[in-house]
Amino acid sequence: MIKLGVLCSGRGSDLQSIIDAITAGKLNAEIAIVLTDKPNVMALERAQRANIKNLCIDRKRFESKSEFETALLNELKTAEVDLVVLAGFMRILSPSFVHEYKERIMNIHPSLLPSFPGAHAHRDVLAYGVKVSGCTVHFVDEGTDSGPIIMQAAVEVKDDDTEETLAARVLEQEHIIYPRVLQLYVEGRLKIVGRKVLIQNE
Ligand code: GRF
Repeated sequence: MIKLGVLCSGRGSDLQSIIDAITAGKLNAEIAIVLTDKPNVMALERAQRANIKNLCIDRKRFESKSEFETALLNELKTAEVDLVVLAGFMRILSPSFVHEYKERIMNIHPSLLPSFPGAHAHRDVLAYGVKVSGCTVHFVDEGTDSGPIIMQAAVEVKDDDTEETLAARVLEQEHIIYPRVLQLYVEGRLKIVGRKVLIQNE
């Protein structure tokens, strides 16, 4: 069974969609550990409720990013994680971390990449005035939101959207495509060819 290590920073609704997909038998994987970089966040509660090992590695308690990342890596290795799943984890991982889990880290971003990378996608989408937005699941490389794209889903941007209403519409799609992508990974059907990710048939 593939072991996932899910990294979160806050609410954890993407984490919840993964937990629910496993419970529903749609995702044949195990969440070995949930790690957060902040204490007292809802993601930890969700993990507890689902009886999943969880731990806060509080970024504030570490002097440097590299010490923080070493602590994260230690937990992931101890839990024998196969795939690192970034689910609302609001930190950029350093190249050395990415190297440790080369082609074994995924992220979900709330825009149609390569448009609107970074921490304020919905705000940037609304400011720019695009008519379509969405979400992207991608492998993580050394850049920010720049790795090979695995799956995207589009949503309409409405004239009266606020960041909150747009985020809610995008989240619905996030909760569908992230578990789906993870199951494709579990089935060994994702093949990275340069910048492209091919989804292979069984
Ligand atoms: C999601 O919109 C995700 O795309 C982004 O951060 C948000 C996390 O939400 N990276 P949640 O914490 O999973 O509810």
